[in-house]
Amino acid sequence: MRAPELIERKRDGGELSDEEISELILGFTRGDVPDYQMSAWCMAVFFRGLNGRETHALTDAMVRSGDTIDLGAALGRRAVDKHSTGGVGDKTSIAVGPIVAACGVPFGKMSGRGLAHSGGTLDKLESIPGFRVELSIDEFVAQVKDIGIAIVGQTGDLVPADKKLYALRDVTATVDINPLIASSIMSKKIATGADAVVLDVKVGDGAHGKRTLEEGRVLAEQMIDLGRRADREVVCLLTDMDQPLGRAVGNALEVHEARDTVRGDGPEDFAELVLDACARLLALSDLGIDVEEGRRRAEGAVQDGSALEVYERWIRAQGGDPDPSALEQAPVRRPVPAPRDGVVQRVGARAVGLAALELGAGRRTKTDHVDHAVGVLCFAKRGDTVLAGDDLAEVHARDDASAEHCVEAVLAAYEVGDEAPPERGILLDVVE
Ligand code: URA
Repeated sequence: MRAPELIERKRDGGELSDEEISELILGFTRGDVPDYQMSAWCMAVFFRGLNGRETHALTDAMVRSGDTIDLGAALGRRAVDKHSTGGVGDKTSIAVGPIVAACGVPFGKMSGRGLAHSGGTLDKLESIPGFRVELSIDEFVAQVKDIGIAIVGQTGDLVPADKKLYALRDVTATVDINPLIASSIMSKKIATGADAVVLDVKVGDGAHGKRTLEEGRVLAEQMIDLGRRADREVVCLLTDMDQPLGRAVGNALEVHEARDTVRGDGPEDFAELVLDACARLLALSDLGIDVEEGRRRAEGAVQDGSALEVYERWIRAQGGDPDPSALEQAPVRRPVPAPRDGVVQRVGARAVGLAALELGAGRRTKTDHVDHAVGVLCFAKRGDTVLAGDDLAEVHARDDASAEHCVEAVLAAYEVGDEAPPERGILLDVVE
């Protein structure tokens, strides 16, 4: 295999065979194909795309790049999993996992890091002092067996190709393309062995590629097809990402909000999405219940405190301190005041995500250090009435200069007008 030939063929709109894609991916994983060639190939894919067969071959090669787990067989149960295509303020897995586990359904998940303007569950979890995202495969399985939940990184040798490719895409502007997103997500889901998966496909300004509802349906179909080929049941929720999810954007701030939601005290849109995802996961599990009963049980686990108990046991099991006061706080806080009386028309998710990235909540290069404490709290959301001078948001920063810069960026993300904007719920559609 000559990598330049494969790059050239894709650049010129040609197709690659299954074997060529496999050799490229396995060569990259071994280090034989360097980052610069892989970046060029990803950029060629960005412009030329991959067809269904090529996307399946890519997913399959990524799964084969490392070990796989048959979680269902190891547990003797049907295991469930969830994943998001990436959004701003998306801490859903951190709240969904313990609620589902508290309802008696094993939840084992491999998560990712921040990607471009969107955060990543692993970075969020690492803001918890002591939390280990690197478990061995045996530890991962044992923990799901013992306490019903584990969320890990590309542990051991699971999908090493995605780990490398994901980090490369993050810093080479090659995130926003369906076949790379679908194969990245589905390779992780297939390799960790859950039988049923709920995928949260983000739609709107803060989604990768600013995808529309129609584009979201196309991505959903691609992932459902990849799941079907691997004998996994996949349900896709298409959800609103025109504004940040919940209030918190930034790693430790989001962990705090996820914990609040697990104990029934989360922001409305985020709590709604969490309960919806839980209901769907429980309906896909071996409990033999439907979505309505799943919703009832998920709400019950939040109200009776069992979800919070599981959350605390889970965080401790992975070495972390579940007490929210243990989370690092940023030294500088600045309000973002409303410029006028009115109704919030929009809170640009991408702009808020980029503002948090600039504060240090994400990476600009592969080796950047993530500042877990910084971020933005968006108090006012679409449709809220505000008075001039009210706090629209609050910036949590490391120093005054970055705080001031961020206040301006967040202010620019808000649009305040006279009329109430059309109502739009968090759940836009379901594809199964
Ligand atoms: N989440 C992933 O795991 N991969 C992507 O490419 C996007 C979101």
